[in-house]
Amino acid sequence: MGSEAAQGRRQAEWQQMTAADVDAVLAVADVVHPAFPEDRAVLAERFALHPEGCLVLRAGDGAVIGYTLTHPWAADTVPPLNTLLGRLPDAEVYYIHDLALLPAARGLRAGNAAVRLLEAHARALGLSRMALVAVNNSGGFWSAQGFEQVSSPQWAQKLASYGDDAAYMVKAV
Ligand SMILES: CC(C)(COP(=O)(O)OP(=O)(O)OC[C@H]1O[C@@H](n2cnc3c(N)ncnc32)[C@H](O)[C@@H]1OP(=O)(O)O)[C@@H](O)C(=O)NCCC(=O)NCCS
Repeated sequence: MGSEAAQGRRQAEWQQMTAADVDAVLAVADVVHPAFPEDRAVLAERFALHPEGCLVLRAGDGAVIGYTLTHPWAADTVPPLNTLLGRLPDAEVYYIHDLALLPAARGLRAGNAAVRLLEAHARALGLSRMALVAVNNSGGFWSAQGFEQVSSPQWAQKLASYGDDAAYMVKAV
């Protein structure tokens, strides 16, 4: 640590994503989620459907080093991966589609800060529950943020395309 890059990461802050950030978000997604590739059009549509729920983590030099894509969604179901949604259903839960930081941006509590911002946004929309699918062995992080796993054979089937360690998790806000 001590380099300009490290300082930039420490100075990073969450900001509203703009349409101009879509390519940078895709570049981060390609690094963080090689096992779950999603098309540019899919990420761009999430932004178009609910821009208020899309944030980028911007380093001191302006580079995008993380992002989160989130939106209202229906209860007890998950959107299929890499699929256009068309429209959002009646809002029952606040859904975190993804929260992803480049490796160098992890461990600095940026993930925790994003969750707090998203909780405030969900509450402002009048939603009392947040939900997500934990992948990449991230369940420990989500548990630390107060999420609890919902497990049932029905969920195991719904999550089949998300990988072996996928877990549907919810939190009351
Ligand atoms: C998961 C991720 C968002 C966490 O963000 P982060 O900024 O590194 O996490 P924080 O520094 O805010 O950590 C908050 C707490 O979670 C814990 N934590 C972080 N990552 C963890 C992990 N993978 N497993 C278990 N605990 C974890 C931290 O130790 C910390 O615990 P504490 O409050 O007891 O000190 C980040 O590591 C990441 O982008 N990972 C790759 C993408 C990914 O898996 N995203 C989730 C997809 S569902």
